Amino acid sequence: PAVAALIARLPKTELHLHIEGTLEPELMFELARKNGVTLPYADVSALRAAYDFSDLQSFLDLYYAGAGVLQDEDDFYRLTFAYLERAHRDKVVHTEIFFDPQTHTARGVPFAVVLAGIRRALAQARTKWGMTSRLILSFLRHLSEEDGMAALEEALPWLDAIDGFGLDSSEVGHPPEKFAQLFERCRTLGKPVVAHAGEEGPPEYVWQALALGVCRVDHGVRALEDDALVAKLAASRMPLTVCPLSNLKLCVVDTLAHHPLKKMLVQGLCATVNSDDPSYFGGYVGDNYVACQQALDLGADDIVQLVKNGFEASWLSDSEKARYV
Ligand code: HPA
Ligand code: ZN
Repeated sequence: PAVAALIARLPKTELHLHIEGTLEPELMFELARKNGVTLPYADVSALRAAYDFSDLQSFLDLYYAGAGVLQDEDDFYRLTFAYLERAHRDKVVHTEIFFDPQTHTARGVPFAVVLAGIRRALAQARTKWGMTSRLILSFLRHLSEEDGMAALEEALPWLDAIDGFGLDSSEVGHPPEKFAQLFERCRTLGKPVVAHAGEEGPPEYVWQALALGVCRVDHGVRALEDDALVAKLAASRMPLTVCPLSNLKLCVVDTLAHHPLKKMLVQGLCATVNSDDPSYFGGYVGDNYVACQQALDLGADDIVQLVKNGFEASWLSDSEKARYV
């Protein structure tokens, strides 16, 4: 139908994407073999069968285990380039990518190795397709603020390659305020900050993310439980990077028909559509648009608004944005 063709045709952004969450089972097994890592699954189909999550933590356990196959620069290059190729097919022209250095440095993989592999792929996508990107260093909130400070310290020599900072991993019990000093330090470095908030955590965590000085809220779907918060987010056009298939797979919503995406648009929120961890959640960004269009009966005007919101919410310069909107 016409709306599906529109989704396929429009140039898009992706602003909430964990590069470690794009590791497809086939590549996971190939790298496990290459690097002598033993996976606790017999084959690709046994691994895929395990992607049956009950909440965020049940996913994170598998996500961190999977990331263990990534060991050298070429592994990070292949991971990233495979994602960029897939995103290009969805007409993604600009992507802002999270990476979790603590997940890798804790296993003895140097920060520089992770960064070099990712950056080689980003540069190639720029040359090959003109695809632009930004890179967001994301801190793991289940670890301490001190651990995050150490990760930041390690990144300082490569600060020019880091476009901003984020906060991810297990949300409940690890509120944004736990990282107030770390985020203050990041902002002092002159970089934008974002944080996951209101995925599983309460609206209070979204308020706390705002207090950290974020320029976007990642997920933020539970903000809808607080009218004053919604009013503030809408009035300030604070972007929310919504990930519908992620919310479905992690049981944040019971069915996509109950997803608040349409309500967010109606309330004037700057909601965007993203894939989060597409290899684990059963769909890349185009699939997220298509699934929501069908489940929520979105019209062409809704799709255009969501796509425009993506450019508005991005860290592209105004002149770069003007190429698309
Ligand atoms: N939420 C929190 N942390 C994460 C996610 C997510 O969806 N994906 C990877 N790390
Ligand atoms: Zn995420």
